[in-house]
Amino acid sequence: MTATEWWRQAVGYEIYPQSFFDSNHDGIGDLPGIQSKVAYLQSLGVDFVWLASFYPSGHVDSGYDVTDYRNVDPQFGTLADFDALVTALHAVNIKVVIDLALNHTSIQHPWFQAAQRDRTSAYHDYYIWRDSDGTTLPNNWESVFGTSAWTPNPATGEAYLHSFAPEQPDLNWENPAVQREMADIVQWWANRHVDGFRFDGVTHLKKCADFADVAHPRTDYYRDLAGVGPYLAALRPVLQRNHLVAIGEAGGIDMATAKQWLDPENGYFDLLLEFDHVHFWETAEPKLPVADLRANMSKWQVALEGYAWNALFIENHDLPRAVSYYGDGTAYPRRSAQALGMWYMLMKGTPFIYQGQELGLPNAHFKRLDDYRDLDSLNYYHRQLAAGVPETAILAQLATKSRDNARTPLPWTPDEYGGFSTHQPWIGLTPGLATRNVATEQQDPHSVLTFYQQLIQFKKAIPALQSGRYELIDTQDNQLYVYRRTLNGDNWQVVVNMSSQVATTQEFDLTASELILTNLRVDADSDDQVIQPWEARLYHLRKVEQ
Ligand code: NOJ
Repeated sequence: MTATEWWRQAVGYEIYPQSFFDSNHDGIGDLPGIQSKVAYLQSLGVDFVWLASFYPSGHVDSGYDVTDYRNVDPQFGTLADFDALVTALHAVNIKVVIDLALNHTSIQHPWFQAAQRDRTSAYHDYYIWRDSDGTTLPNNWESVFGTSAWTPNPATGEAYLHSFAPEQPDLNWENPAVQREMADIVQWWANRHVDGFRFDGVTHLKKCADFADVAHPRTDYYRDLAGVGPYLAALRPVLQRNHLVAIGEAGGIDMATAKQWLDPENGYFDLLLEFDHVHFWETAEPKLPVADLRANMSKWQVALEGYAWNALFIENHDLPRAVSYYGDGTAYPRRSAQALGMWYMLMKGTPFIYQGQELGLPNAHFKRLDDYRDLDSLNYYHRQLAAGVPETAILAQLATKSRDNARTPLPWTPDEYGGFSTHQPWIGLTPGLATRNVATEQQDPHSVLTFYQQLIQFKKAIPALQSGRYELIDTQDNQLYVYRRTLNGDNWQVVVNMSSQVATTQEFDLTASELILTNLRVDADSDDQVIQPWEARLYHLRKVEQ
């Protein structure tokens, strides 16, 4: 590992600026608010933060419709605030990764404003157009957010493509000028001392060349993954020159392409955020198919061994809360949050924690349409209603799957608004404030927060848990996830019961081992082979005397 590969030994923490801490009492989190909580990040033990999109935006897709890539949205502060935050984080050795939406801008971005007025503008070719009389759209492609991917632009007699909302026109990466613009933007932020980027939506960059109808209108027209490579290559020199970590959001990527993109010599990324493992709950029955998870996680662990590095995560600002989608938020809220933490963090790779995950926050589970802010959730509601689905059923679905479930203010104290703000926040809080908040959990040696702090310490202190080889112990059941991490003969074993029933196993021998960390109190059942619901154990396997 070289000094520039610091991220291999690091634990990351995603901050959603709207909901971290509000320093100016307007109900919206901001950059000075983050700066005022640096000591908390330090106490957690994280090594870098990933700041979700904070650029000036049209506020249609929560900051991912950027109007200016070289500034900070006034609701979050100023560039001076950004610089001060970077300085404060660097002072305590926390690095800073920022988000960059590569696939699209806002319709309010000056490039698009010029492009939509005039076909001869130099910016017209920054976007993707097809002739359209305004009534017939170019093809059947649909956006991720559920409408046609085309919006007519009467001023030029065309329609423009948008893989997401109509207010997020897709950039034309075929155009070398677009590639140069993005490389310049990366350099501009490197000059402000950021340590890396999380590149948004990279699997969307290349569209089908023939612009024909496709069988699956929502997905088939992008994900020409081979075609994305040359675009990404345009960013490589600036990333390398500045020693920046490159993290790609790569939904739907296949293993062959992932290995190409992570190639240590000629690849484009250091880490890829891939999503299969956090989506089983949507289709699987039972919703936590442990056998599928074993297969999926192990596939990536094994394939990247000795070659590249995994990004490990179970939450972000686009997902519901893990304790609600895989855990048992009813019978075992604390224990299942802790067990999920140990399960993913001690595998091989760089763990990412999403704000509030370390508190075991469950879904916000809003009750009324008015509670929702996320465009995707609102669109979903209206589409389903138009399709005749009863409102109660739609609201029940949103309470389970909406992105707003995880976008609520971080609760710092049990006080009003969770101590996040003195003003009513832009979105409601997650229920359970009295016990699930930073101050209360910091005082409790058995809290999810305390357990996460311990996990982070172990992950960083024990070389085998960082760079040791991963080996699955296949228990062939649908409850246990057991794996080993081994480095130079030093063996560690993680045993997690990912179910709400007791699990019994003879599949592995724990006699020659020492229990180092567990989420069960000492008075719990101590039979090694009987694993309590959502119990998680970290063992150090003793070397057996010859
Ligand atoms: C991924 C971002 O994380 C998400 O919040 C956003 O809606 C889409 N990309 C589009 O930018």
